[in-house]
Amino acid sequence: MNFIAHNVDLGNGKFTLPDTFPVLESTERWKSIERTIKLMFRPEEIPTLRVVDLGCLEGGYSLAFAKLGMQVTGMDAREDNIEKCEWVKSHFDLPNLSYVKDDVKNLANYEQFDVIFCAGLLYHLDEPSSFIKLMHDQTRRMTIIHTHYSLERDSFYDNQRLSFVQRAVKKVFNLPNNHYPQKYDYRLSEVVEHEGYKGRWFHEFSADSSKKAIEKNAEASYSNYKSFWHTKPEILRCFREVGYRMIFEQYDFIGKYTGWDYTEKHDRGMFVLMR
Ligand SMILES: C[S@@+](CC[C@H](N)C(=O)[O-])C[C@H]1O[C@@H](n2cnc3c(N)ncnc32)[C@H](O)[C@@H]1O
Repeated sequence: MNFIAHNVDLGNGKFTLPDTFPVLESTERWKSIERTIKLMFRPEEIPTLRVVDLGCLEGGYSLAFAKLGMQVTGMDAREDNIEKCEWVKSHFDLPNLSYVKDDVKNLANYEQFDVIFCAGLLYHLDEPSSFIKLMHDQTRRMTIIHTHYSLERDSFYDNQRLSFVQRAVKKVFNLPNNHYPQKYDYRLSEVVEHEGYKGRWFHEFSADSSKKAIEKNAEASYSNYKSFWHTKPEILRCFREVGYRMIFEQYDFIGKYTGWDYTEKHDRGMFVLMR
């Protein structure tokens, strides 16, 4: 099996990826999530908690939640991803771990979960505001969202008529972005309003891409060819307006490995929301 993202220790010295990839459970990101779970829930209730890992990819986070003792469902739309998840699972004796192949947009078809874990997924959706509302409605206690957002003013994307020229000049002369020198070009649109919130469109793939090509692109969106990235003030407003009572941003996974400038460089954050 060809893994690309989650390095899992399968036991007997076997791993899903070479040691250039940190083992997922030893990463600061996982440890920070584990700290949050242990802070918010009593030890005796952890084994009773139902958690769903949305867009679970190769299942590494689902497995880590299951090892904590939680009742876990990993959900992903791609057949190949679910196959890898099941293969990883077969190395462990964890009856509290299961996977479903489904579009996360069907979340309303499932019973409520105590915890919803939504990492690297929200920025792959075309109606993220409705989806945040859906997650709120399907969460009994806590939602963790690790996502990109966009900036209200971003020198790199703002002048759309010049952006082609700006990009060409930037490339030829290897110029830094004004906003953040080493920023990756996500090819975002100008700021527009969508579902009542401001943000920028992110182009995922062309509208006429074949089903096969979409299936193959393991980490991309699945049922929409462009995705919407709220600006940061607007994503916070959305969290509040759908009804989350407490909204935290978590930073303790940031460090030497991610770079201390992680949020500025990637316009990305980890939000912990309580109902
Ligand atoms: C960037 S990866 C994030 C993986 C993982 N959650 C993590 O943080 O490492 C996005 C994942 O979401 C899945 N995905 C994207 N759109 C989806 C949809 N509409 N329904 C279900 N899964 C989706 C992809 O197949 C992929 O596994």
